[in-house]
Amino acid sequence: MRILMVCLGNICRSPLAEGILQKKVKKAGLNWVVDSAGTNHYHTGDPPHPLSQKVALENGVDITHQRARRFTTEDLNQFDKIYALAKDVLNDIQRITGNKYDHSKVDLLMNEQYPGKNLDVPDPYYGGEPDFHEVYNLLDEVCDQLILKYQTSIAS
Ligand code: 4NP
Repeated sequence: MRILMVCLGNICRSPLAEGILQKKVKKAGLNWVVDSAGTNHYHTGDPPHPLSQKVALENGVDITHQRARRFTTEDLNQFDKIYALAKDVLNDIQRITGNKYDHSKVDLLMNEQYPGKNLDVPDPYYGGEPDFHEVYNLLDEVCDQLILKYQTSIAS
């Protein structure tokens, strides 16, 4: 199973999603590839936002080594499932991939926990530490759903 988490900048939300899911994958003894990317280039090469790093570390998740990269159409070939963390991100993915867009591979992440509700993981970029904790908690819960969903259908 190869999963890509995508947000706008790849510095706040998707690095947390990557780190949280990687930790759960390891704990479950699964052999998945988990990565993240952003649909814009403003922070390419940057480490995660300091508050994403801090909140992750407080929860035993180390994301300090991650570096932001931009989502590309090639990611559609490299991953089995691509999760947009918000609706504007999903629109960006459709715009970037154009006629290569694959409805079967790309979904809104929060629909895995609240099907059909089309909820966003809120963008904490202009917020404070409580906003990053809220994002962490949302991602922690939905990543549990991903483990349950895929570990039973696919062994690794
Ligand atoms: P992220 O947050 O998409 O969760 O990484 C953002 C980071 C940077 C920007 C927007 C959102 N930005 O526009 O620079």
